[in-house]
Amino acid sequence: MNTIQNEGKRLAGRAAMRYVEPGSVVGVGTGSTVAYFIEALAERRHDIEGAVSSSEQSTRLLREHGIPVLDLNATGELPLYVDGADECDPHKRLIKGGGGALTREKIIAAASRRFVCIIDPAKRVEVLGRFPLPVEVIPMARSHVARAIVARGGQPVWRDGVVTDNGNWILDVHHWSITDPVALETELNQIAGVVCVGLFARRPADVVLIGDREMA
Ligand code: A5P
Repeated sequence: MNTIQNEGKRLAGRAAMRYVEPGSVVGVGTGSTVAYFIEALAERRHDIEGAVSSSEQSTRLLREHGIPVLDLNATGELPLYVDGADECDPHKRLIKGGGGALTREKIIAAASRRFVCIIDPAKRVEVLGRFPLPVEVIPMARSHVARAIVARGGQPVWRDGVVTDNGNWILDVHHWSITDPVALETELNQIAGVVCVGLFARRPADVVLIGDREMA
């Protein structure tokens, strides 16, 4: 990753702090951009009640920074979820899951009133799909799901050796130009054995921060 890209991540991570409400519980995503957000959040840790985490990786980081990690079942709906993305189109629809945390990320996004997505400029695309689309699957369904994806024109590659925080496997689908992300997300969700699709189109981001600028 180059220095400009890193600086974009840092700026976006810090800019998301303006959406954090005092006394609230904050939903926290996963990845290198979110790591900058966690750093900034730690500076205000005494102003918030705590965080709901989307991965074991973020849980460790939050705890290292002295931020209490709470259970989503105990907090109810959250006012804010902050997370990065692998790609973002002009309608704030996203590909996520490069870090393998897509299922918990999608759960927290669904349980939050506002989803603020933080990215560096390299993540912007006109059409989603240059970044391979992650699909989390139940291990015994890997081949079945892969065949179903091939039948729909995708090229799935097993992320060999990776086990998600939920004990599942990931297929990365290459060479799919995703012109109708809502329809594809809906369709892939119906395949038996699919746990979660890394398309965030049915519930896109509400706000996208590219560096410290808000996308129109
Ligand atoms: C984690 O599973 C992903 O959804 C991340 O949000 C995404 O990969 C972005 O990561 P970076 O901020 O490290 O680019």
